[in-house]
Amino acid sequence: MSEDNAPAKLWAGRFHQPTDAFVEAFTASIEFDQRLYRHDIAGSIAHANMLARQGIITPAEAEAIVAGLEEIRQDIEQDRFSWSIALEDVHMNIEAALTRRIGEAGKKLHTGRSRNDQVATDIRLYLREEIEIIRNQILALQNALLLLAEREAATIMPGFTHLQTAQPVTFGHHMMAWFEMLRRDRERFADCNRRVNIMPLGSAALAGTSFPIDRHYTAQQLGFSQPSENSLDAVSDRDFAIEFSAAASLLMMHLSRFSEELVLWSSAQFDFLELPDSFCTGSSIMPQKKNPDVPELVRGKSGRIFGHLVSLLTLMKSQPLAYNKDNQEDKEPLFDSVDNLKGCLKVFGEMLPTLRCKPANMRRAASRGFATATDLADYLVRRGMAFRDAHEVVGKAVAHCVEQEKELADLSLAELGGFAPQIEEDVFRILTLEGSVAARNHIGGTAPEQVRQAVQRARDHLAVTP
Ligand code: ARG
Repeated sequence: MSEDNAPAKLWAGRFHQPTDAFVEAFTASIEFDQRLYRHDIAGSIAHANMLARQGIITPAEAEAIVAGLEEIRQDIEQDRFSWSIALEDVHMNIEAALTRRIGEAGKKLHTGRSRNDQVATDIRLYLREEIEIIRNQILALQNALLLLAEREAATIMPGFTHLQTAQPVTFGHHMMAWFEMLRRDRERFADCNRRVNIMPLGSAALAGTSFPIDRHYTAQQLGFSQPSENSLDAVSDRDFAIEFSAAASLLMMHLSRFSEELVLWSSAQFDFLELPDSFCTGSSIMPQKKNPDVPELVRGKSGRIFGHLVSLLTLMKSQPLAYNKDNQEDKEPLFDSVDNLKGCLKVFGEMLPTLRCKPANMRRAASRGFATATDLADYLVRRGMAFRDAHEVVGKAVAHCVEQEKELADLSLAELGGFAPQIEEDVFRILTLEGSVAARNHIGGTAPEQVRQAVQRARDHLAVTP
């Protein structure tokens, strides 16, 4: 739009000179805040209805405003709306379009409000909606994990500490570990939403308004749990967005760990599972390559989401009350976090049900590396030896095996008896992988029976958790 027919600024009254062209572009947020149009319009409709209900504008004016806003929404959705940088942001673009369309009544919409409470309301409406979507995506992942855990409840794999074989575990138990992390993530978003779902509208610029508004009515119209208690706080704080970013960061941290395991497990060295071709890409030079790009990219995207958390914290740090233009910088990090988080959850949700594990390879890996050494020590304890002594004895047996290039179960009864006379024929049962996992048969343990019970409890929990 050229300078000559640039739309008049809604705040031009006290100015004598036009805005510097670069400053206009520099201070505008329209390029990124236009995505708030639906929430901005919803907030304006609720505000207009409240103004009419309170006798601050006439019912006819409110009707014209609501009809005009609804037309604008359709125009935006059908790509017939032209956004103007001169009008700075989504709020003034829509308000100016309304007045162009319906005339005088449009100029009354901003009675008793400010862009400061308006934008804070819009972001909260936006985030509330996104949190709902994100929570459903997490739920889909949780359900996929439950199916995997159920199917592979008795599938044996090596469990690791320090990425060294530690003790045998079941694949189902491993999947349920991810389930638990996601359970907490989903709870965190629900908890965050309790503080997101508070309505700033009515706080006006910073101190409230001199008009007889009914904030409870507006809050109810917009589905907020309550109006905010303090106007200065409501227009200025963005802690709810920081909280969202913190929850998003924790979720991404979990997905990055999950991704890392998928990358390792699908390598030729582990070969525990196969990722479907549709989630991998090839190499332009090495014909044999099938790269796990999807989990790698999810792992990599955790970086930007952690970064946005720090951006938002730094944005708020030391800001004096109340609203400052700094806050306009809240949107891009927040939007980018939401978009990328949803992308990661979508791709994971589609990939998980396609995972095929390779039980024979996992089993072979578990039978190397003395995964049942602790079981042997526990066996000796049950035969009266103190645990520290048993640890020492089994350590010696392992050292012997390393020299002989054998596993514990490969030793003869005579060889084992040489380390501790308490060892008898029944030792071989406890040295098996099945015996080892089945023995950990308590809540939180890896026994197949416990995995099945954990899956059942998880299903019961999901059935009663909104
Ligand atoms: N575009 C602004 C933002 O995103 C809207 C609020 C502007 N308020 C103001 N007093 N300049 O924060």
